[in-house]
Parts: sequence; structure tokens; C-alpha cells
Amino acid sequence: MCGIIGCVGRGERTLDTLVDGLERLEYRGYDSAGITLLGDDLGVRKTAGKIADLETLLDERPVDGHIGIGHTRWSTHGPPTDANAHPHQDCTGDVAVVHNGIIENYQSLRDDLSAEGHTFTSDTDTEVVPHLIERGLEMGDSPEAAFRNAIAQLDGSYAIAAIVGNEEAVFAARNDSPLVIGIGDGTASSDREYFLASDVPAFREYTDKVIYVEDGEFARLDSELAVTDSDDQPVDKEVHSIEWDAEETGKSGYDHYMLKEIHEQPRALRQCLSGRVDELAGTVNLDGLSDRSPSSVQFVAMGTSYHAALYGTHLFQQAGIPAQAFHASEYATATPPTGDALVIGITQSGETADTLSALREARSRGAETIAVTNTVGSTADRECDETLLIRSGPEIGVAASKTFTGQLAALNLLALATVESARTRRGVVPELRELPGRVQSILDDSNAAEIAEEYHDSESFFFIGRRYQYPVALEGALKLKEISYEHAEGFSAGDLKHGPLALVDEDTPVFAMVTGDDEVARKTVGNIKEVEARDAPVVAVTDGRSDAALYADHVLEVPETIPRAAAVLTNVQLQLVAYHVANLLGRPIDKPRNLAKSVTVE
Ligand code: F6R
Repeated sequence: MCGIIGCVGRGERTLDTLVDGLERLEYRGYDSAGITLLGDDLGVRKTAGKIADLETLLDERPVDGHIGIGHTRWSTHGPPTDANAHPHQDCTGDVAVVHNGIIENYQSLRDDLSAEGHTFTSDTDTEVVPHLIERGLEMGDSPEAAFRNAIAQLDGSYAIAAIVGNEEAVFAARNDSPLVIGIGDGTASSDREYFLASDVPAFREYTDKVIYVEDGEFARLDSELAVTDSDDQPVDKEVHSIEWDAEETGKSGYDHYMLKEIHEQPRALRQCLSGRVDELAGTVNLDGLSDRSPSSVQFVAMGTSYHAALYGTHLFQQAGIPAQAFHASEYATATPPTGDALVIGITQSGETADTLSALREARSRGAETIAVTNTVGSTADRECDETLLIRSGPEIGVAASKTFTGQLAALNLLALATVESARTRRGVVPELRELPGRVQSILDDSNAAEIAEEYHDSESFFFIGRRYQYPVALEGALKLKEISYEHAEGFSAGDLKHGPLALVDEDTPVFAMVTGDDEVARKTVGNIKEVEARDAPVVAVTDGRSDAALYADHVLEVPETIPRAAAVLTNVQLQLVAYHVANLLGRPIDKPRNLAKSVTVE
């Protein structure tokens, strides 16, 4: 987790650039924050709390400089205190370091450095880095050599940026944690400006030109940019263009990013489908991915992405391909993939440590891997054999909304392009094409706010569904619990009476997803009757083709479509319910407590 930012060449706008960048990175962690600026000397300001608290500190104790680094933290080692906030410094105060990730061998490094007389002031793993750099400088290393030598001693995952001595440069390195460099046009006072960050939104308003730093590479940003490998040889880096605008990372008049992102789903779906489906021909083209015909599929993912993985298993199984979904953190116990098995990692960030580690495990077992991700240049994108981009655009709210929808759409494309029949494609493609408009109609007409008003102070919330609606039930519960802090559980509808029904009473609204009018719908209506008989209020999320509404206290309507597309629609209604419940309870919807957008530790 954590967000890091750095910039050079911004002159007197350096401080504002860092603070703005941290605000845009706050979704990565927000329990403490800090910055360092190099001016006449090295000024460090840091504090527990949010970026707003850092701004208050900067008003009280201003700092000046023209080169800087900053950090917003999500604690792993040590509680969120002023002392544990980054940047961390050495004994002399001449070195400042910010870090995202975990240094696994920090304890032995710290013991050695302490024995040599170095004094530590925090509980963090990061603090060993400035002291290692200090040791190098004492031994006569140049600032750059001291930085490189310090990095060479670290085990673990890191994106690190440092200012060393009075050297007018920012040094950076990465292993297993994201780091991207922005190349700006320069200002009146400098020919070139460079930015460094964990993620592009931190500096997107200044440039659309980026390079992605790879594991093992070092970057030096001063009046020029130099990227070198671990042998100090120059690396010729490709410059990429970012295709989305800075405004896309703003709230555009919505009260919360999450609400904005829920409303962006029609566009996100269009982007995902764009150029990939041909309705007339009934074909799906995913370039290099289309010619796969896997004998089996294993999905690895966490959280919301795991729910998308469960949905993906139904798609492939329906096509006769054995498919399993694993929490990536449990993948070690999976039967090894064999033959033409595909291992598909679903991760919107592309940086989830558990998912990356499962994908590496799969590769080491000889499997071909595919990343289904929203993040170009992410570790998953770069490490997997192939990538299927979901193209949802930046998602800032910590709770995944439009990226889950994007994942479901992308998985449909993947199944259609690889294993499903031409007949299926002809039936499904037009329904996918209609999805953006159908989602829009839900956004325009939903009564989710009224349902939230009625039930927001309930004891507990249950969600039930079958087949494609089972992952939606799990996702509906996860969304509600993470942003409202209320207890919520999702169940396969059939499992309810095997235990959880004991919890159902008049204070437990049950949301039941029932679409179509087939055997599956009829069975779920049977489950609705079971909870209704226990006096539980029932909210049917339905297209009205079954009897669900007859037994429900309230209805959230969705347009008619095929079962796999209906899951996208019912989920949108549940997103809105979760949002409105959380809003009525006054929760910090975009930044729920204890959570971070990108979970880069296992
Ligand atoms: C929930 C949520 C998380 C993520 C999970 C995996 O709203 O956002 O459960 O889905 O941390 O993240 P990615 O998809 O980035 O691998």
C-alpha cells in the first residue's frame, strides 16, 4: 500500500505539486503523510492523519525547496504515528526516504546498524534504508552509489524514493511495487520537469508521457532522467502516452468518487466492448488472446475480484471447460495446472500481492497466465503472458465498483473469444451491446435510496442468489459491509436453510436476486418464501419475470436480459443500496477505515 510522489524541475510549485499528488494518491493509504523538500537544507514535515492534517502542519511550519518527495501511508510496521510517518531520515538528517512495500530483512539490518551506533526513531521497516545510505556515505560512496548499495541489501517488496545529501536529485528503485515516472515539458525555471509516483493520477494533470520503472531498475531524476539496470548500465525506456484525462480523476460534481464511478459504468462498459465485438458477424476479437482453447481454467483473485472469478467459473463451465476460482492467497494448495490449462489472475490494480504471488506460482508450474486488469503497466500486466484490459478508467474510491462491472464484461469477452460456440456468441454479443443502456436505465430510475432509507439501521443484511447471481450476492454483501461498516453476508440461496436461516428475523432484510423465469428463478423464489415465513423483510432484485415480487416487501427492478448479463444489472442496484446506506450513516465512503485501494502485502 502507501503512495509515493516525487518531483524535480517544478521550481516554486514543488510543494503544491507534492501535496496535490498526495491527495490524488490518498486512496492508497491515509493514516499518515509527509514530505521532504530540498532547499538550502532538507526540510521534513510529517504527521499522523490525513493529507489535510499535513497541510495544517505545513501552514504552521512552512517548508521551501525545489526538489521533493512525499508519502501517504497505510501502516504495516508500527501504528500510524508522527514518528512512523514517512519520510524517514538517517542520524545526520541529510538523507530522506519514502517507501511503499515491506522490507523483509529489516530486523537483521536494523540490529546490525544499531550495533554500529545508528539511532532509530520509528517502528518502521523503512527506517533501515536512510541508515544504510548514511553508512555508504560514511564509507566514501557518492550519493548515487550509497543509494544503489543500500537497495542491494534489501529483501522484499519496495518502491523507494530518496533525497541524499545536498545532491540535487531524486533517486528511486523498485522491486514488486509500482513506480512510474512522468516526463513534463518544463517550466520557466527549468528545461524539463520529472515526476515520480506510485500511480499516474498523482501527476496526470501535468503530463501524459510516462515510463514504467521495472524491478531491479534505478532512476535518477535531476535536470535529466537516467534509468539504469542493477549493473549500472543505461536502460532505453519506452515512453507511453496516457489516454485518459486528469478530469477523470476528479469528482465531477458527485459527492463521492464511488458514486461518480457507479455512474461511469455505462461508459466503462462501452470502452471495454469497443472494437472487440462485432454484432453483425457475432464475433469477438481479443487479438492475441482469441486463439486460445484451454483444456481447463484456474482463476486467482482476492476480494471483489474473487467474486468476478467465481462468475468466470460459471462462464467457462457452461462451455464445458473445467474451471475453478481460488482466493489467490490459498492457491498454493491447488492441484497444479496441467496441459493447456490457463491461469487467469483478476486484479483491477494489477498490484495485489496475493494475486501476483499466485500467478508467479502458476508460471513456475509451467502454466500460461493471463492478467485481467484495469492498470496498464501494472506488475500483473507486465509479468503475465497475456493481458486482457478491462478499460474501466481510473477508479479512486477504495471500494471497487466500475472495475467489478468491467471484470464481468471482460470475462464474457474472454469466454466468448476462446471457448464458447458461434451460436452462443450470436446470442450473447447483442445482449452485451445492450448492457450500457440497461445500466443507464437503472442509474436513472433506481429506488435504491428509498430502500436504504427504510433499512439502513437494520441489525444485519443478507444477500442471496443462485448461479450467476451467487457472486453478486457475495459482492453485494462485501460492498455494503466495507463502506457502511454494517454486518452483511452473502449466501448461495440454496445454502440459506442449512444454517444461516437461524439468524433471520424481522431485523434482517434479505436481498434476493431473481431474474428470468426458469427453474433457477423458481428455486430462489422458494428461498424467498422461507425467509418471508420468518418475518424477514425481503427486497427482490428482479426483472419481474418470476413471482419474486409477490413475496417481496420491496422491488429493485432490472431490465430483462440473459442470465449472465443480468448479474451485471442486479449488482448495480446493490452498489446503489450500499452507497446510500453508507451515506445515511455518514461513513467516509471513498476511504473506508482500515482499507486501501491497492493491497501490496500478503
Ligand atoms: C473491495 C475491493 C477489494 C479488492 C481486492 C483485490 O471493494 O476493492 O476487495 O477487490 O483487494 O484488489 P485487486 O482487484 O486490485 O487485485
